Amino acid sequence: MFKRLVDIGTPVTFDFEGRPLTAQAGDSLASALLANGVLDFRQAPEDGTVRGPHCMIGNCFECLVEVEGLGTRQACRERVRDGLKVRRHSGRPVPGEQP
Ligand code: FES
Repeated sequence: MFKRLVDIGTPVTFDFEGRPLTAQAGDSLASALLANGVLDFRQAPEDGTVRGPHCMIGNCFECLVEVEGLGTRQACRERVRDGLKVRRHSGRPVPGEQP
């Protein structure tokens, strides 16, 4: 389990899979999800195994999620915002996105 060490930002509420979660403005989406106990961010397209963040610096693409209105995003490179709606990435192409 990940735990926040310092509270420095304004509290924000966002939605993951229909569940309201809290974070602090400026947190990356990946760190906000991890701090809320979410470890599985997506399914591998090859075999459906669950995957989660690995590098936290934008290199591995293991942290892909679907953000409403934005499509597929690397959670470690996206800032959490109040009202953001996020879903696990299915591992399949998102309609309207380039493969
Ligand atoms: S955790 Fe590696 S790209 Fe996001």
